[in-house]
Amino acid sequence: MNPQKVVISENLTEALATAVAECEHDRTFILVDETTERCCLPVVSDMDCVRGAQVIVIGATDSHKTLESLAHVWEALGEGGGTRHSLLINIGGGMVTDLGGFAASTFKRGINYINIPTTLLSMVDASVGGKTGINFRGLKNEIGVFSNASTVILDTTFLKTLDAENICSGYAEMLKHGLISNEEMWAELMNFDLAQPDLGQLQTMVADSVAVKQRIVTEDPTEQGIRKALNLGHTAGHAFESLALERKPVLHGYAVAWGLIVELYLCCVKTGFPQDKMRQTVAFIKENYGRMAITCDDYPHLIELMHHDKKNQGTSINFTLLGNIGDIRINQTATEEEIKDALDFYREC
Ligand SMILES: NC(=O)c1ccc[n+]([C@@H]2O[C@H](COP(=O)([O-])OP(=O)(O)OC[C@H]3O[C@@H](n4cnc5c(N)ncnc54)[C@H](O)[C@@H]3O)[C@@H](O)[C@H]2O)c1
Ligand SMILES: [Zn+2]
Repeated sequence: MNPQKVVISENLTEALATAVAECEHDRTFILVDETTERCCLPVVSDMDCVRGAQVIVIGATDSHKTLESLAHVWEALGEGGGTRHSLLINIGGGMVTDLGGFAASTFKRGINYINIPTTLLSMVDASVGGKTGINFRGLKNEIGVFSNASTVILDTTFLKTLDAENICSGYAEMLKHGLISNEEMWAELMNFDLAQPDLGQLQTMVADSVAVKQRIVTEDPTEQGIRKALNLGHTAGHAFESLALERKPVLHGYAVAWGLIVELYLCCVKTGFPQDKMRQTVAFIKENYGRMAITCDDYPHLIELMHHDKKNQGTSINFTLLGNIGDIRINQTATEEEIKDALDFYREC
């Protein structure tokens, strides 16, 4: 895969001008969704480096991460005179960067693209690491390719217009990055005022957080081993997310935060993770994310959902656990009894 440059922007005009100049191109296209067209496009549309760029708009939110939206982007690229040497700039959350990245990687067998993530989740997670794609036949990210953006530009000033729930959702992935990384990063995350986020401070924390993901995906781009570290909180998290889909859907990061409660409990029981650090993290999650109400009647269904997780091999459920902050243990399993105890803990903590 071509290498990917991640730029922590101090001056967006300069950062984008450099990124655009580094991609030899004939025409420039900008992809936004209906919300980022309103909230984020005006920040860049007057810049010289994108003068004359054609803007392509798709519907907002994951319900539009579809073949129809993708076809619309391909059509707009074709009708706008796009060639093998054109450039696409994706401005939006993970939906736009995933779909736009896939559109760019397949149009004329692949054109260059730049990601400007505008949600916290896409800054620290979706826009880096090369996974692109769309949902298909009701299955998330069913169709896609691994392909890197030429440059990813991170600028937390875009977050001014983002709602508190989406900030919290992205922050859950930052918590995960802190837990799999080191104690200093984790402590800074625990002390951050998520209810009144300071975007300047968040910019450096985003830079540190994305560096964790980048380091791991560079080591293991196609998820053969250590990239599974990024699944911490996600085995239980995906089960919560699926259960919520049957009741009242929740943002991905909320499910991951609740998944972290379950899995940190397993870390304590199975791999010796320190209780005090688990308690502190759980308190932070309870305070900022609340908890989805479940009863013990939900346990069999939640466990069944964990069994369906695509990371599993054979009949056991695969977890990534920690022996301590930064001490990653991939390919762990837990018995049904242990998982039920962890779910009891989630309800009672
Ligand atoms: N490729 C990966 O490795 C990876 C990793 C994690 C998630 N994802 C994908 O990312 C997507 C979720 O990303 P997301 O949470 O960013 O969702 P999203 O892109 O749907 O954005 C959430 C909402 O925020 C709006 N928005 C975006 N930026 C805004 C801003 N600055 N101000 C106001 N509103 C803004 C969007 O229009 C949308 O309505 C999913 O499709 C998921 O599969 C991909
Ligand atoms: Zn996630």
